[in-house]
Amino acid sequence: SFPVENVQALASKNPEDIPLRYIRPEVESDEILVDGSLQVPAINMNNLVIGQVGYDEELAKLHRACKEWGFFQLINHGASEAIEHMKVVTEEFFKLPLEEKMACAQVPNDIEGYGQAFVVSEDQKLDWGDMLFILPLPASRRNMRFWPQNPASFKSTLEEYSSNLLSISMSLLGLMAENLGVNPEELTSKFEDCIQGMRMNYYPPCVHADKVMGITPHSDASGLTLLIQINEVEGLQIRKDRKWIISNGEYSSIEHRAVVNVEKERLSIAAFHSPNVEANIGPLPDLAEKEGAKYKTISHEDFMKLFIMSNGEYSSIEHR
Ligand code: SIN
Ligand code: FE2
Repeated sequence: SFPVENVQALASKNPEDIPLRYIRPEVESDEILVDGSLQVPAINMNNLVIGQVGYDEELAKLHRACKEWGFFQLINHGASEAIEHMKVVTEEFFKLPLEEKMACAQVPNDIEGYGQAFVVSEDQKLDWGDMLFILPLPASRRNMRFWPQNPASFKSTLEEYSSNLLSISMSLLGLMAENLGVNPEELTSKFEDCIQGMRMNYYPPCVHADKVMGITPHSDASGLTLLIQINEVEGLQIRKDRKWIISNGEYSSIEHRAVVNVEKERLSIAAFHSPNVEANIGPLPDLAEKEGAKYKTISHEDFMKLFIMSNGEYSSIEHR
């Protein structure tokens, strides 16, 4: 990757003068309509306990959300406290002076650390944001050099957050398997010893917010992403059309992007849950047998290589 400027520092240095590499002609004119009238489905985890009144309806609602959206709001997930703690330490980290944050800076050939994502060429357009990317799981592969020492409670807070989100993910994957008509074990076993990545995003305000992009449109390559917004500033936009490979195309992996605010910084955390390193990526065998495989199966390693090479766009491996 190519080292690029820290966006937080750039934004505070000269707020009026946006370097050309950040100016995106397509932002104003592109076809993503911002339609606030469409209601994103909300899934109530309280109802998804076996034996609970309303279980069947909620499960059906989850199925529709996965098929038609690939995106939903999760409520009553039981992680509110862990989320509140995580918000505090993440804000504290990004408020530190640049030199202190640079203690966690990215290093060549490693995807973790503090810096920018998906910079693969010297002339590519750049996103208006910095990130801290950490892989809390599998725990055996943790690289503590990228975990902030300051704030002092960052480590324990991230650990608490990580385990809360892992258990929510495993519950959701079990429910999705049920909805897909496959043995839950077939899906959840792929996520035993799963890879969990945490992408903490910091988008500085930008006076020309309508000309820059916080995150370029993409659809996630992870199995399941749990996303929170840290402060009150909104900016996530979604488009309904992509497909989720493991579900043999039955479920969507929604395309989304993040836009930037004129006056206020925006922060978010995306937690990616991906199958373990040994698991092959392809349609679940039960589904492939029933419906015929709509995607080829490749090793996890090859999948990640293709994803990174394609700059976060994995359309090149979507179809057989
Ligand atoms: C992401 O796509 O990883 C983050 C989107 C957001 O900041 O809401
Ligand atoms: Fe994403």
